[in-house]
Amino acid sequence: MLIRETEDGDAEAVAQLLLAADDARVISADGIRHMRRTQPERARMIDLVAEAGGGVVASGRAGLDTWTKTEGAAWAFVTVEETYRRRGIGDELGRRLLDHLGEISATKATSFFRWTEEGERWANARGWSRLLGGPLIAVDPRIVPEPSLPAGYRCVPMTEVAPEAVYEAVKTTALDEPGPVRHDDIRLDDFLRDWNEPDVDLESSTAVLDEDGNVVAFTFLNVAGERAQHGFTGTVREHRGRGLATAAKRRALRTAAARGVTRVTTSNAEENAAIRAINRGLGFEPIGEHVIFGRDL
Ligand SMILES: CC(C)(COP(=O)(O)OP(=O)(O)OC[C@H]1O[C@@H](n2cnc3c(N)ncnc32)[C@H](O)[C@@H]1OP(=O)(O)O)[C@@H](O)C(=O)NCCC(=O)NCCS
Repeated sequence: MLIRETEDGDAEAVAQLLLAADDARVISADGIRHMRRTQPERARMIDLVAEAGGGVVASGRAGLDTWTKTEGAAWAFVTVEETYRRRGIGDELGRRLLDHLGEISATKATSFFRWTEEGERWANARGWSRLLGGPLIAVDPRIVPEPSLPAGYRCVPMTEVAPEAVYEAVKTTALDEPGPVRHDDIRLDDFLRDWNEPDVDLESSTAVLDEDGNVVAFTFLNVAGERAQHGFTGTVREHRGRGLATAAKRRALRTAAARGVTRVTTSNAEENAAIRAINRGLGFEPIGEHVIFGRDL
């Protein structure tokens, strides 16, 4: 087994690996390459793969959380292909990631993954514990009804709005999303790399505009063939409780359905009552669980 730095040529194998571990994700080799190439320097990311039997069998990445002002906040992910588990590959990768985080003065790490009993046991045994969980849910978007909006608002595809206009709404609503780390430092360059990620479908992703043309609600969708996965959804505070997030999601889901998507997945924190009520109303049903684990470094 060889552990080495990831190269662009590994993207296809890494995409397969991540999808095998969580088929609710929408992620492509192009998307992985884009995110690698545009990783901000300040994230100080380490990106490793393990090779065995002539192929890539594990991926491990870690870096500083660039969306927060919280000093020392970091993230880490390890994925090992199923047939190569229980051979110490995850341990070795994990050790190198944590060593790197220590070197760059990170003090706390979080890791987001699809819950399995095996995953939880593995993480618990290495000093990680659950910080947050939430149902992973899916819907067939062909059942979703047309959006309806109060007077003065309209839904438009993201292709019709400037990313800077959506950025302002994302930045303020992100402060209200429950999570273990406060996302109080989302910068425009980081937002634009997500916006330009090839898996983000800006046709189905939707913005809600008010009478003056301001973006007051939004929802993002990643699409790959028949599968899609929601990105962030938000409504700026003064416009909440008027059905705007629901309308944005209905348009997004219907547009995706018209483009051939038959399954859309998403997950939300257990305590995020508003978005969970919206998703229930849209017909999403549980298929699993996403969790965030954390540990001190
Ligand atoms: C979640 C959020 C997008 C909702 O936006 P919105 O435009 O107010 O949503 P809508 O008006 O379409 O629907 C609100 C729903 O939440 C319900 N709701 C609101 N607060 C609630 C609460 N505390 N408990 C239970 N349900 C609640 C409403 O009753 C309504 O449900 P209904 O459709 O069954 O009537 C908005 O609160 C937000 O931006 N939050 C911060 C960002 C976030 O957490 N995003 C979700 C993660 S992707």
